Amino acid sequence: MRLVFFGPPGGGKGTQAERVKVDARALPIATGDLLRAAVAAGTPAGKKAQEFMGRGALVPDEIVNEVLKERIVQPDARDGYILDGYPRTVAQLHSLELLLSDMKMPPEKWLFIEVPESAIEERVLGRRTCKKCQASYHLKFRPSAKGDRCERSGCDGELYQRADDSAEKLKTRLSAYRKDTVPVIEELRRRGKLTEVSAGSKGLEDVEALVRKALGLGAALRK
Ligand code: AP5
Repeated sequence: MRLVFFGPPGGGKGTQAERVKVDARALPIATGDLLRAAVAAGTPAGKKAQEFMGRGALVPDEIVNEVLKERIVQPDARDGYILDGYPRTVAQLHSLELLLSDMKMPPEKWLFIEVPESAIEERVLGRRTCKKCQASYHLKFRPSAKGDRCERSGCDGELYQRADDSAEKLKTRLSAYRKDTVPVIEELRRRGKLTEVSAGSKGLEDVEALVRKALGLGAALRK
């Protein structure tokens, strides 16, 4: 499937993309992960992005558009993708639509996972991410069976707290979301293209069930 997930920062987009990717036969592509990799590698795009990400602000469209384009043209995204964290501005939306229509792989579903801001802070402050494979955990809601190491088979990477996962930076991220990303969601809703899931403060499994239903996927087989 070709999918685009929307939702507030820390709302669970990446978590749900991981949970449905096999059944949706889709490759999760998160611009946040791509940008963090570019920063770590010290590429020109990464050097420019670093300052914005460090503040919790959006990275300028021209940088993100380029980073996304480089990734989505790769053969492994050809049969299906889940975009997570992109598009985040109306300009990115228009750029994406042009690109994917040229590539003849337009999104089949634009899915908005609605989560109230009151549920966000606890999720963001408790999130831990694997340094090696970027898997996402939560100290309370999704702890790793191996404590501060990644439980994925063969990984064992160290879990760390992202630099932008602080209460102060979250304020900036939420205000960028309200100012720049909510208009994208509203535009898609106006066009009648948006599929909406009211996740509220439901737990991981319950949200997954709603997402699966919205995407027309069967129930999860795992416990
Ligand atoms: P990015 O990495 O995209 O951050 P984000 O949008 O703020 O989203 P997150 O990754 O924080 O959250 P998520 O919704 O995936 O939540 P998760 O599943 O991990 O972007 C970072 C920065 O990069 C931006 O600030 C910006 O600077 C830059 N950037 C990226 N894309 C850009 C773009 N397109 N344009 C410009 N700049 C861009 O869940 C969070 C936690 O909650 C986890 O610990 C999880 O275990 C837990 N959790 C999830 N669901 C539940 C649940 N239902 N119940 C309890 N806990 C839950």
